[in-house]
Amino acid sequence: PDGRINGIKSALRVIPNFPKPGIMFQDITTLLLDPKAFKDTIDLFVEHYKHESISVIAGIEARGFIFGPSIALAIGAKFVPLRKPKKLPGEVISEKYILEYGSDCLEMHVGAVKSGDRALVVDDLIATGGTICAAINLLERAGAEVVGCASVIEVPDLKGRERLKSHGKELYVLVESQFEPTT
Ligand code: PRP
Ligand code: MG
Repeated sequence: PDGRINGIKSALRVIPNFPKPGIMFQDITTLLLDPKAFKDTIDLFVEHYKHESISVIAGIEARGFIFGPSIALAIGAKFVPLRKPKKLPGEVISEKYILEYGSDCLEMHVGAVKSGDRALVVDDLIATGGTICAAINLLERAGAEVVGCASVIEVPDLKGRERLKSHGKELYVLVESQFEPTT
C-alpha cells in the first residue's frame, strides 16, 4: 500500500452526530489544511488516471469542486461542474436522484461535454452511490463515455461500489470511512 494513504487518513476528521444523531461525519476540511496530504490526494488521482485519455473531469457540487479542478489542470482535461438545481445560467440537462429522505437533482450545461469525450466523475465521498450514479447518467445522456469514478472516501456499508458495478463503472477511492471520532 502507498505510504501517502496513511497521511491522508490521519488528516481527515470524523465528527459524531453531524448533521444528525448517529451519523459519523467524514470531514475533508482538515485534509485541506494539510498541504502535503492535500497534494498527495490530488497526485494519487492524477497517477491513477493520467494514461486513460480523460478529456473531462466532472465535479459534483459542492465538495467535488474542491478536488476536481486540480486533477483537471494536472492531466490537461476540461472541468465541468455538475450543479445543484437552478444555479447554472445556460440551458441545462437535469438528472433527479433519490436520497435517504427525499430527492435531489444535478444539472449540467448543454454543450459542456460532447460525444467522444472521456469523463471521470470526482467527488469527496461515496455512500449509497446515488449521487455518483446521477452524475454518470447525466454525462452519458450528453454523449460522453464515463471512464470511472474517483472519491477520496468510501462508506463500504452503504454499497455504493456494488451500485456502480451494476453500471459497469470502476471506482477508485483512497480511504474507507472511519468510525472512531477523531480527538
Ligand atoms: C455528500 C457527499 C457526496 C454525497 C454522497 O454530498 O459530498 O456528494 O453526499 O452520498 P451518496 O453516495 O449516498 O449519494 P451532499 O449532497 O451532502 O452535499 P455537499 O457536497 O454539497 O456538501
Ligand atoms: Mg457532495
